[in-house]
Amino acid sequence: MCGIIGILYKNKHVATDLVKGLKLLEYRGYDSAGIATISNGNLLVEKDRGRIDELNIKLGFDQMSGYVGIAHTRWATHGAPDKINAHPHTDCDNRIAVVHNGIIDNYNEIKAELIRKGHVFKSLTDTEVIPHLIEDYIKNGYGFREAVLETVSRLEGAYALGIISLYEPEVIVGVKQLSPLVVGVSESGMYIASDINSLSPFTKDVIVLDDGEIVFLSLDGYEILKIANRQKVDKQPMTIEIDTQFADKEGYVHYMLKEIFEQPVVLNYSIRVQEHYLNLMAELLDRSKEIFIIGAGTSYHAALLGSMILSRIARLTAIPVIASEFVAQYGDVVSVDSSVLAISQSGETIDVLKAIEFAKSRAATILGITNTLASTLTRVCRVYIHQHSLPEIGVAATKTFTGQLAVLYRLAMVAGKMRGKLSQREMDEMKIEINKIPSIVKNVLDKVDPVVRELAKKYSKTKYFIFLGRGLNYPIALEGRLKMLEITYIPSLAYPAGESKHGPISLVEEGVPVVFVAPPDETRKFIIGNMEEMKARKATIITIGEADDTELMELSDDYIAMPKMNPLFSPIPYVVPLQLFAYYTAILLGRDPDKPRNLAKSVTVL
Ligand code: F6R
Repeated sequence: MCGIIGILYKNKHVATDLVKGLKLLEYRGYDSAGIATISNGNLLVEKDRGRIDELNIKLGFDQMSGYVGIAHTRWATHGAPDKINAHPHTDCDNRIAVVHNGIIDNYNEIKAELIRKGHVFKSLTDTEVIPHLIEDYIKNGYGFREAVLETVSRLEGAYALGIISLYEPEVIVGVKQLSPLVVGVSESGMYIASDINSLSPFTKDVIVLDDGEIVFLSLDGYEILKIANRQKVDKQPMTIEIDTQFADKEGYVHYMLKEIFEQPVVLNYSIRVQEHYLNLMAELLDRSKEIFIIGAGTSYHAALLGSMILSRIARLTAIPVIASEFVAQYGDVVSVDSSVLAISQSGETIDVLKAIEFAKSRAATILGITNTLASTLTRVCRVYIHQHSLPEIGVAATKTFTGQLAVLYRLAMVAGKMRGKLSQREMDEMKIEINKIPSIVKNVLDKVDPVVRELAKKYSKTKYFIFLGRGLNYPIALEGRLKMLEITYIPSLAYPAGESKHGPISLVEEGVPVVFVAPPDETRKFIIGNMEEMKARKATIITIGEADDTELMELSDDYIAMPKMNPLFSPIPYVVPLQLFAYYTAILLGRDPDKPRNLAKSVTVL
């Protein structure tokens, strides 16, 4: 939540590049945006409510002068998403500007103290205490750097900060505590940013900061210190290759649509992740007394399906848990004998990181599956697997979900073989089947896209949707529901189909659309019963099922015909029509599927 970037150039104005980088961070929040630069001894600040492109036209962000600057795109936590609360925030004398991602837990107490001392606050944010506190230390005789160090030593909570000031006009300070921050280095300048991707237009040479570190960027280079003891930390940049194509919509109207259609290509990468890491992870899972598999949102749906396939293919019990509930639900049993497998495409979701921090404190083994190299998750895991789905910009997860599933299938297969639960022949057969999935997904996209467009027209005015599935496709019903509600804002619920008669059926009346995810697996005969129950109450039945399943077709008002495939792997292709259904419905309702209201792609607040 919230993206920050700072740039310092030797002989070039920074504003155009700040806007470029900020655009790549917009997935982290888009309530408001702002830029501060230092030019001819003045601190210039422009900010307002709105999206970066429209603010750039309105405020002329990229026309701002100055060789040093910081910028912010916001997902509001403290204070409404308006101009006053937009970042950067400044001190009383307008000499210090700060951008912040995270939450300062003890800001109330600091604010009260500063108000007593006469500081005047303009915003309702937690962030504004930072420039005022720095100012206060400076007024008490501290140098700028000392004042920053004293200030951050007092902050509690999560924060990545970018700070500039007229006290040292050719310096940018970056601070990292729980929220992500990287440093970029190039011939022409120095950078800080919330992620590596946003630096990809400028440099490949990056340093990932650790919690409790502060960096001072200047024209001479960078200096990193540990805040706690002020000791220097020696870190050299590493070169990270980033495919910059992700930033381009490549002719698609929205990133979400581009990313849905990219799935056949990137699934091939995810299926082929390195066997070595799968083996290491499988070994650690095999040794564990308890396995927990955690995630948030879509990644939790992957965790839920992951637990089912680990059970089915590898005969391993892995308890799926929503990350924010992990400590409350299972904290007491986590021990050195436990493994926690965290699924997080960003690798920065704070609920996941907090759960891991707890598990680590109990000496559990931490494992991860992520799409983001050098993310915090990768740095706290004993073993992690990079799913190689390429960066995802659309806020709704699509290709990263199917990529997570592909990795989990591969992991279950490797663990099954290692534990003697799969013979070599079974393993080989499964490999053949999973290798077919990308082309099956391609086929689904070609055939199903026009059908789903029409369905969206028919159902976009519905009051609500119900999604039902069983077994491996219950998580897919959950995911179809999440996609629908998060980008169309149509209230939707999802249930295991068998559970639907224990309550949700009371919502069913004539014409309510009930979507069944019904591949021809062992749950099909029970699903038919559930369809009959819904039909008897005059629901409108939309089914995703195999193309020649005439029985299902006859029970359905609308039918999405899927190609033949091994039902074990059906969750990956079967989620695709649901992604498209949500997308086209959102378009018909005039929503922006790439930036749904109130959401952000990387949720870094608890
Ligand atoms: C839904 C969505 C979110 C994320 C969730 C976890 O479309 O994108 O629900 O899945 O915020 O994010 P990661 O996977 O980055 O931990």
